[in-house]
Amino acid sequence: MTSTHAFWLAGRQATGETAFDVTSPWDGRLVGSVSVPTEAQVEEAVAAAHAVLDEFAATPAHVRAAALDHVSKRLAERTEEIAQLISAENGKPVKWARGEVGRAVSVFRFAAEEARRFNGGEAQRLDTDAGGQGRLALTRRIPKGVVLGIAPFNFPLNLSAHKVAPAIAVGAPIILKPAPATPISALILGELLAETELPAGSWSVLPVPNDRMPALVRDERLPVISFTGSGPVGYAIMDSVPRKHCTLELGGNGAAVVLADWSSEADLDWAASRIATFSNYQGGQSCISVQRVVADASVYDRLLPKIVAAVEAQVTGDPSDAATDVGPLVSEDAAKRVEAWVDEAVRDGAKLLTGGTRDGASYAPTVLVDLPAGTTLACEEVFGPVLSVARADGETEAFAAVNDSPYGLQAGVFTHDLQTAFRAHRALEVGGVIIGDVPSYRADQMPYGGAKQSGVGREGVAYAMDDYTYERVLVLTGLAL
Ligand code: SIN
Repeated sequence: MTSTHAFWLAGRQATGETAFDVTSPWDGRLVGSVSVPTEAQVEEAVAAAHAVLDEFAATPAHVRAAALDHVSKRLAERTEEIAQLISAENGKPVKWARGEVGRAVSVFRFAAEEARRFNGGEAQRLDTDAGGQGRLALTRRIPKGVVLGIAPFNFPLNLSAHKVAPAIAVGAPIILKPAPATPISALILGELLAETELPAGSWSVLPVPNDRMPALVRDERLPVISFTGSGPVGYAIMDSVPRKHCTLELGGNGAAVVLADWSSEADLDWAASRIATFSNYQGGQSCISVQRVVADASVYDRLLPKIVAAVEAQVTGDPSDAATDVGPLVSEDAAKRVEAWVDEAVRDGAKLLTGGTRDGASYAPTVLVDLPAGTTLACEEVFGPVLSVARADGETEAFAAVNDSPYGLQAGVFTHDLQTAFRAHRALEVGGVIIGDVPSYRADQMPYGGAKQSGVGREGVAYAMDDYTYERVLVLTGLAL
């Protein structure tokens, strides 16, 4: 019998009047039941967060840093248990879930380090003009207000960490809303936060149903919204609150470019292995998974069979098995959507080299060539284990193919040439260019976010801290400078 998970209301556990079940997408078993906050409880959490604004902003850096270090340490201690849980609720193979917990450990550690450094104070002399004689400006960053963090299902712990840890680091209260499919790992994060000395009200984890979110989004006491998820939902949020500060981490259809100089057997083996792994990790349910490969014509014929072989070598199956590379998608509906998109592409002329089959929520790792422009698969983010490979004549054509997308999150470019790397960085309309690897590389301290329809703003601990705060200048007068 699985007990009902309480949620976290202003730092303490609470239960509402109803609950919903979280089931494993792999075998449908019940992972846990999660209590839903009532309207009154949501109001209580928002009021508490708003009331603690000044107190939390004034909390000494050592207190916030100690809390962040504590969460980092406790996540590390509970890695295996939390990884199993992420795997159960999300369907993510446990090897990837362990990696996710490891990343969250780092996110909280980075945030502790940044909290100690933040607001070190910048002094600017103003006597550069006669009117500023004897004056000095000091700049500090002040929280914009309570953050509403809305986390997705694909990295339920680490993308929650990316919302919560920077907020604590700057002393901004946060209300975290986890994804309905994967709320339990965020609730565990709440357990660890509850072990700290952070002021009551400074954080809540509320599994509010999606249909009740518009009211919360509009609440004026929550001026900052940090959302990770789909474009339509993200833009609907931003359009509904045009005067709020919104950070949107949206989709991508990540491309890996393999250029002519990346041509030795070892080069192509490495590229094929990385492409196969990162088009399928987490069932392709990452905004920076590899969805497209653009290979120079001079390497295409040697690269393609290597990619197909590496994709076919991916071990599919039970996500709790340590050997599994690719588990199910988050739901059977998600797998059916992927199936429909691939079927449409094949109907319109794409050639299937491997995969293309569905079993319940699982979709087989799939490689296509000759993908017609204009198909859904060519234009949209598939968020599934599906890869298309195309040929390009030279760097300019390859970069143009990458840019021929409404999205621009990250791109990978396999080249050894530094000048080419700089040209790629200039040419590609994305938030990050990864040289010598796939677009899926992300270090959690880097700025992370999109160009074009991939989003607005940046995460990455220090960047989110900037995002959650504004500069306030203190001008001192009559000084002997
Ligand atoms: C995402 O799907 O946007 C997050 C990718 C990551 O954190 O690795």
